[in-house]
Amino acid sequence: MPDIRLEPWGEDDFPFVEKLMGDPEMTTHLAGPESPERLAERHERYLRANNSTARMLKIVGEETGEAVGSVGYWEKEWRGELIYETGWGVLPPFQGRGIASAATALAIELARAERKHRYLHAFPPPDNGASNAICRKLGFELLGEVEFEFPPGHVAASNDWRLDLFASDV
Ligand SMILES: CC(C)(COP(=O)(O)OP(=O)(O)OC[C@H]1O[C@@H](n2cnc3c(N)ncnc32)[C@H](O)[C@@H]1OP(=O)(O)O)[C@@H](O)C(=O)NCCC(=O)NCCS
Repeated sequence: MPDIRLEPWGEDDFPFVEKLMGDPEMTTHLAGPESPERLAERHERYLRANNSTARMLKIVGEETGEAVGSVGYWEKEWRGELIYETGWGVLPPFQGRGIASAATALAIELARAERKHRYLHAFPPPDNGASNAICRKLGFELLGEVEFEFPPGHVAASNDWRLDLFASDV
């Protein structure tokens, strides 16, 4: 189990947003690197995403304190229902060590503790092998392929994975 913790977004984290969403390798499965304006908007959005409507967190090495990735969840209207959507990213030097899986498991516990929305969805593109593997491993159910818009303005085929956050109540 990787030694990581989750921390809220900080005022000084703009360079980290650039590494996550302004980098060609990190955005291969998305729409490519975002413009400086979009990155600045994203940073401001992430700073405000610290409540049950949206929560965006840095994945930080427990011992090093180094930011290695991001994970979060936010409300979205999907097929007439309010759900949580989740997403994640881990910087290339830290990939392949189970960090995204561990961080997403922690984020799921936070979303579950909100007691707010029953379903948490993830929408990775079908060719994002690692992200689809994470969904499968963490107990999401694959509902099928959909057309999905992320980031805004970019529509692509995505898998619709769903996790029932209230399942343990049954
Ligand atoms: C997707 C991403 C977050 C994965 O991060 P990571 O920390 O390397 O992921 P993990 O190590 O926790 O787990 C990846 C799992 O996928 C598996 N995997 C990796 N590549 C795979 C592939 N091509 N096909 C199938 N499974 C794959 C791994 O074996 C691992 O499963 P395991 O633990 O059972 O062995 C990271 O590659 C990334 O940030 N990519 C760029 C941004 C991105 O794509 N974000 C998600 C958008 S949907």
